[in-house]
Amino acid sequence: MKKGRVAVFLSGRGSNFESIYRATLKRDSNYKIAIVISDKKKAMGLKRAKKFKLKNFYISPKLFKTKREYNRHIIKLLKINKVDLVCLAGFMRIIDPEFIEEYKNRIINIHPALLPSFPGLNVQKQAVDHGVKISGCTVHFVDPGIDTGPIILQKPVKIRSDDNEDTLSKRILKEEHKIYPEAIKLFFENRLKIDGRKVIILDR
Ligand code: GRF
Repeated sequence: MKKGRVAVFLSGRGSNFESIYRATLKRDSNYKIAIVISDKKKAMGLKRAKKFKLKNFYISPKLFKTKREYNRHIIKLLKINKVDLVCLAGFMRIIDPEFIEEYKNRIINIHPALLPSFPGLNVQKQAVDHGVKISGCTVHFVDPGIDTGPIILQKPVKIRSDDNEDTLSKRILKEEHKIYPEAIKLFFENRLKIDGRKVIILDR
C-alpha cells in the first residue's frame, strides 16, 4: 500500500502533531509525515519533530520580501516532498488564498470548538464565558475564511459548571488527539467527498 504523505504546519506545543505522528506508527496506518514546518523557531512542536527524526523546517514569512515569495517557497518545498495533504496543527497564521488554491481541498485544520460556533482564537475561554453547555472540536477543510471551511469531523465535549478555560481546554484537547488522526485516515481512504458546504463520509 502506498502511504499518503502529510505535511504538518505548527507554531507551538505540537501535541496534535504528536498524536498524528503516533497514529502513523500503527501497523494499519495509511499515511506518514513527510515534513514538519514551523513559523516559530522555538516551537515545542519542532523539538518533538527532531526527537522523532522527522524532516523539519523553521520557515517564517518574515524571512521573505513578499508574501508571494513565501508562498512560492512553501509550495516548492511541499512539491519536493511529494506532499498530498497539509495538516494545520496549531499553526497561528492565516493561509494565503494562493496557497489554498494550489492545495485546493488538500489543507485541513483542527479547531477547539464546535464550528461554526466560536471561530478564531481563545475559543475555549469564550465558550466558558458564554455559558454554553457543550463545546468540542472540529476538523475541517481550509478555505479562505477564518475557520469556515467544510466540516469533516466533530466531537462534542460537555461543559461543567466548575470548568474554566484550562480544564475545558484539556478535555477538548484529548478529543482533538482522536479526531485529527481519524480525519486524515478518512482522507487517505478517499472517503471524504465535498459537496458544497458538506463533507460526505463515504462507506467503505
Ligand atoms: C489546539 O487546541 C488546536 O485545536 C488549535 O491550536 C491548538 C494547538 O495545540 N488550532 P497543539 O500545538 O497541537 O498542542
